[in-house]
Amino acid sequence: MAPVAAPEKPEVKVETKPTGIEQKIQELETMRVQVKLGGGEDKIAKQHEAGKLTARERIARLADPDSFQEIGMFAKHRASLFGMAKKDIPADGVVTGVATIDGRLVHLASQDFTALGGAVGEVHADKIVEMMNLSLKTGSPFVIVNDSGGARIQEGIDALAGYGRIFYNNVMLSGTVPQISLICGPCAGGAVYSPALTDFIIQTKQAQMFITGPSVIKQVTGEVVTPDQLGGAAAHMTQSGNVHFVAENDEDAIYITRRILSFLPSNNLEDPPRLDFDGNLESDPAVNKIIPDDPKQAYDVRNVIAQLVDRGDLLEIQSGYAQNIVIGLARIAGCTVGVIANQPCVMAGVLDINASDKAARFIRFCNAFNIPLLTLADVPGFLPGVAQEYGGIIRHGAKMLFAYSAATVPKITVVLRKAYGGAYLAMCSRDLGADRVIAWPTAEIAVMGAEGAAEIVFRKEINEAEDKAAKRKELIEKYRSAFATPYVSAARRLVDDIIEPAETRRYLAMALDALHAKRELRPPKKHGLMPL
Ligand code: HXC
Repeated sequence: MAPVAAPEKPEVKVETKPTGIEQKIQELETMRVQVKLGGGEDKIAKQHEAGKLTARERIARLADPDSFQEIGMFAKHRASLFGMAKKDIPADGVVTGVATIDGRLVHLASQDFTALGGAVGEVHADKIVEMMNLSLKTGSPFVIVNDSGGARIQEGIDALAGYGRIFYNNVMLSGTVPQISLICGPCAGGAVYSPALTDFIIQTKQAQMFITGPSVIKQVTGEVVTPDQLGGAAAHMTQSGNVHFVAENDEDAIYITRRILSFLPSNNLEDPPRLDFDGNLESDPAVNKIIPDDPKQAYDVRNVIAQLVDRGDLLEIQSGYAQNIVIGLARIAGCTVGVIANQPCVMAGVLDINASDKAARFIRFCNAFNIPLLTLADVPGFLPGVAQEYGGIIRHGAKMLFAYSAATVPKITVVLRKAYGGAYLAMCSRDLGADRVIAWPTAEIAVMGAEGAAEIVFRKEINEAEDKAAKRKELIEKYRSAFATPYVSAARRLVDDIIEPAETRRYLAMALDALHAKRELRPPKKHGLMPL
């Protein structure tokens, strides 16, 4: 008898109902997806059409992969007036949390314009403030992406108070942890004061920033101006000096943020990160030829900086503002330095109101975060003129004297060529506490230029001479050879050494090493009075 096949086991379908916890996890997941959609697909599409990333896309690009931990995802506003009771604003319009950027802990807030225009309400503000507090407690930088219609009008004075708390905490963080503001969308009204209280503002070309917009200005003063003319990135870089970097778009702003952070310590108690260094301290002998033989001829000081710093890499700050002075972050033998250099190819490198403000602020920043100062002097003086005097050049120029004198970080000054009068002192002379002052053989350190000095000292002799022009020339040369050299200053120990330009990079690396452990104490006080 043939064997009988065993009957097939019927498939038993078991209805598996999600258990209590599984159901709750599903609900949680649905809610997370909902919150992550922000204001919804339409608003996200609109954001992209405007050439902007969403708040979460910005964070995803800023943070190292999988490093972002969101804090406060399910936060909700408590407002009830003007239809707010029924309004659901995902994450209350701001994504906040902690991440690493190139391996370093950073606290982040990114305003979500798709969620009620990223407007700032009470809870929104408190989420930002919480990140700031965590930055302070953990000694980590704070980065905020601004893209907001300003105070949430429906929340009235609660929104205003929220801004107040943000400003207050900006000041608490100032000088303790680095703060960076990215302006990637509208930033109007009092909202602008939070970025203004941070260390660096990066504005994209898609963003605008102003206290009062074009329509209010038209009503009050009659002036007609477009939003971009008034508060676009170019206007702030070239006219107001409010921004430190102009970014092509969000991606570029994020790249600049990462680059700034790479130079900085996480807080004021740490030294800046020291990078591996390839050991090459040679300058190109071409550096010997950068300064033209004619002392009146201009050159671009950025060519000098490129020869002195690692890989010629300078992160120039405010490159489009007060271009008669160049400031930026760079490295020498792997150590971060803040570079401050007169720019002879713009207005002969004179110091004026804007250049003084630009440099003084940067010196303060470097000092707060333990970044040594490298000053390159080639300065004919302070800019003469009624507008400068009425504009307060006395007060503004004094900021440089104040900032340099108050700075306790290592201070190294290289006199490249001219260093005249008060401007010589303002470019961190020995008397303002420079730890090292070195000069190139081309340096002319004097109370004023030889031409001007000769006119004053030898006026009688020149006027009485038969050939006045020849006499003037002769006496200018006499004055120049007596004073306009670095050797007079070196003899008085106002200059530590005179070196061949090509040796400068090596000299600086050794001096920075020697000064690394510098500690300088100042008399205890609440604070000095920076001439503001
Ligand atoms: C509440 C706001 C808002 C705000 C925008 N929205 N700003 N909601 N309070 N301040 C909402 C809009 O109603 C809209 O909601 C959504 O955000 C997107 O705004 P749109 O106008 O559709 O976008 P767009 O055309 O791109 O214009 C963006 C804008 C404009 C230029 C920013 O929204 C605007 O002018 N907003 C008002 C700006 C302002 O005056 N702020 C100052 C507030 S007082 P729906 O539901 O339609 O999506 C202030 C003082 C602070 O800030 C002082 C601190 C010291």
